[in-house]
Amino acid sequence: MSKGKFYITTPIYYPSDKLHIGHTYCTVATDVIARYKRLCGYDVMFLTGTDEHGQKIEIKAKEAGVTPKEFVDNIVTGPDGKSGILGLWKHMNISNDRFIRTTDDYHVEAIQKIFRKMYDNGDIYKGKYEGMYCTPCESFWTESQLVDGKCPDCGREVHHAEEEAYFFRLSKYAKPVRELLESGTFLEPASRVNEMIHNFIEPGLEDLCVSRTSFTWGIPVDFDPGHVVYVWVDALFNYLTALGYMNDRYDQVEEYWPGVHIVGKEIVRFHSIIWPAMLMSVGMPLPKKVFGHGWLLFGGGKMSKSKGNVVDPYLLAERYGVDSLRFFLLREFPFGSDGNFTNEALINRINADLANDLGNLVSRTVAMCEKYFPDGQLIAGREAGPEDEPLLQAVMELRDIYEKDMEAFATQQALVDIFKVISRANKYIDETMPWALAKDESRRERLATVMYNLLESIRVAVSLLAPFIPESSEKIFAQIGASAEDVTWDNAAQFGVLPAQVQVHKGPVLFPRIDMEKELKALEELEKQNAAPAEKPEPETVTIDEFAKVKLTVCKILACEPVKKSQKLLRFDLDDGSGKMRQILSGIAKWYKPEELVGKTVLACTNLPPRKMMGLESNGMLLSAVENDEGDPHLIILDDSLPAGFTLC
Ligand code: ME8
Ligand code: MG
Repeated sequence: MSKGKFYITTPIYYPSDKLHIGHTYCTVATDVIARYKRLCGYDVMFLTGTDEHGQKIEIKAKEAGVTPKEFVDNIVTGPDGKSGILGLWKHMNISNDRFIRTTDDYHVEAIQKIFRKMYDNGDIYKGKYEGMYCTPCESFWTESQLVDGKCPDCGREVHHAEEEAYFFRLSKYAKPVRELLESGTFLEPASRVNEMIHNFIEPGLEDLCVSRTSFTWGIPVDFDPGHVVYVWVDALFNYLTALGYMNDRYDQVEEYWPGVHIVGKEIVRFHSIIWPAMLMSVGMPLPKKVFGHGWLLFGGGKMSKSKGNVVDPYLLAERYGVDSLRFFLLREFPFGSDGNFTNEALINRINADLANDLGNLVSRTVAMCEKYFPDGQLIAGREAGPEDEPLLQAVMELRDIYEKDMEAFATQQALVDIFKVISRANKYIDETMPWALAKDESRRERLATVMYNLLESIRVAVSLLAPFIPESSEKIFAQIGASAEDVTWDNAAQFGVLPAQVQVHKGPVLFPRIDMEKELKALEELEKQNAAPAEKPEPETVTIDEFAKVKLTVCKILACEPVKKSQKLLRFDLDDGSGKMRQILSGIAKWYKPEELVGKTVLACTNLPPRKMMGLESNGMLLSAVENDEGDPHLIILDDSLPAGFTLC
C-alpha cells in the first residue's frame, strides 16, 4: 500500500562540460532521499536531466567546431555510453525515474505554449534591456548587484549588453513571494530565507528579462521569431513539463505535482523567487519545498566546470567503489553547508566508518556464526543476558530517529545515528565475548542469542543504510541470511524478523582498508598523468576503400584574413583547380599571420560537408600536423611546383 506520492528533483545540469564531484554530490543526495521515501512506502517520481540551451553552450559548441546539439549529445550520452552524464548516473547507481533534456520536442513545444500563456495574461511584455551580462551564468545584473564590478554569483567578468527583449512582471509578485518565503518551511535551510529577503526582495524586485536576441541556441518565441526564451524560463519549467504540463508526452501533473526541489545554494534565487512567481502567473500550485544545499569546496574555492579544479567522480567511484563515494559525500558534509573536499578525508572515512566499524561488524559476526555453528545454521537462542538491553533499545529506537533526520534532509545526522548503533553492536561483541561463550558447552543457548542479536542489529542498521549504499547493503543482507522481503520500513522497527534458523554466508571483504600513504602517492602520480596529454585511443585501421573516400586536394592560398569577432578562425580563399573559388575556415589564427600564408601551396580535404562557423560557410579543411591534441598546429605547406587541383593517390 502506497503512503502517497512524492516528487523530487535535482537541478538540470548544463552539459557544457563533463560533470564533476559537486554535481554528483547533489544527485547522490537526491537519490538517497528518493530511495528513503520508497523505503517508507511512497510512490516516488525522481527526476533529473540536462539544461541544454543558452549562449554558453552555443559558444562552447562553436569552439569545438560542432553544432550545439552535437555538442550536448556528446556530453549527455557520451561517445562510449560511459563517460556521458547518463553513464555517470548509471555508474553511481542513481535511481531516477525520468531524465529530461530541454532539447526534447515535448519540452520545447510546452515552453512555447507557456511563454505565450504568460504573454496573453499580461505578465510578459516587450521592452528594451540594458545591463551587465554574465555569459557563463546567463544572467543580467544591475550595477548595484555586481561585486567589485564582477558577477556576484561566479566572480567572473561581466559585459554591457543591450537588446530589445520581453520582460516578465516579477515585480508584481514581490508580495506573495515574500509571504511564501516567510511562511513555514518552503525554503530550507532557514538561513537562506533571510538571504533571499535581504538580498533580493528588500532592494525591490525588478521585472525579469525573459528573451534574448543576441544568439539563437534556445527555444524560439513562436510569435516573435528572432527572440529565444531566456534559458532559466526554459529550464525551470522542466519540473512541470517532465510530468506532462502543456504536452501530451506524459499525463502525471495531477499525480505528482507539487514536488520538492533540491538545488545548490547559488540557484536558490531562481527557485525560490522567480519560479514561484512564474507558477503564480500560470496558475499552478507552488513547490512543496526548495532545499538549497551547500557547496563542495576544493582547496578553498567552489569547484566549477569553468575554473578547472575538477575532481572526476567516475574515476573516484572506480577507484574506491560507488558506495564508498556515495557514503563519503553524505557522511562528511552537512547537507545544508559548504564543505572542503580532500582525498585524505575520503580515505579516512572509508577506513574508519566502512572498513572498520561496519565492515568489521559484519565480517566478525558472520565469521563467528560460521565458526560456532559450522553447518551455517544458527539456531536462535532464547537466553537473554544483561548486556542485551542497551543494544536492543538502541536498535529499536533507531528507525524513528532516522526518520526525523531524513525528513529534515539531515542526511549526515542520519548516518551518524546509524553508526551509533553500529558502534554499539561492536561494543556488544567486546562485552559478551562470544569466543569465551564458545568454550563453554553449557553457554550454547546464550551464544546463539548473542549471535542472533548481532544479526538483527545489522539487519536493522543496514536496512536504513540501504538508500545510501544500495549495492553493499544487498551484499550484507545476503551475508546475514536476510531476504529481500525482510527489508521493509515496518521491519526496520522490529526485533526478531530473521527466522529462528538463520543461514549466514561469508562473503568477500566489503570495504578493503586503504593504505593512506601509498594511496596519496598513487593519486599524485595519477594527477601527473592526467595533466599529461590524454591517452590516445587504439589506432583503428581503415580499408583502402575507406581511405580512398577522403579527397585531399592541392590548393593555392589566394587570400587570407581573420574572421571578425573570432580569436581562433582565419578565412581562406583557395584555388582548388576547379576554376571556382573555395572558402575554408581554419582555427589557426593563434599561430599564423594571414599575410605570411598568402601564395602558399597547401593540402585540403575537399569532400567534407559544408559547415557554418561564425556565420560563414567552410567548404573543407586545411591539413595541419600536431604532436597531440594540445599541441600547436603546423600547417602542411607543400612545394610550390605542385599545381592546384592535384589530388592525393
Ligand atoms: O545551474 N558543490 O546548472 P549547473 C556542490 N542549469 N554542488 C555543486 C557544485 C559544488 N561545487 N557545483 C555544482 C545550473 N553543483 C542550471 C540549473 S535548474 C532548473 C537549472 C550542483 O550545471 C549544485 O546542485 O551549473 C548546483 O546548483 C548545480 O550543480 C548547478 O549545476
Ligand atoms: Mg551553475
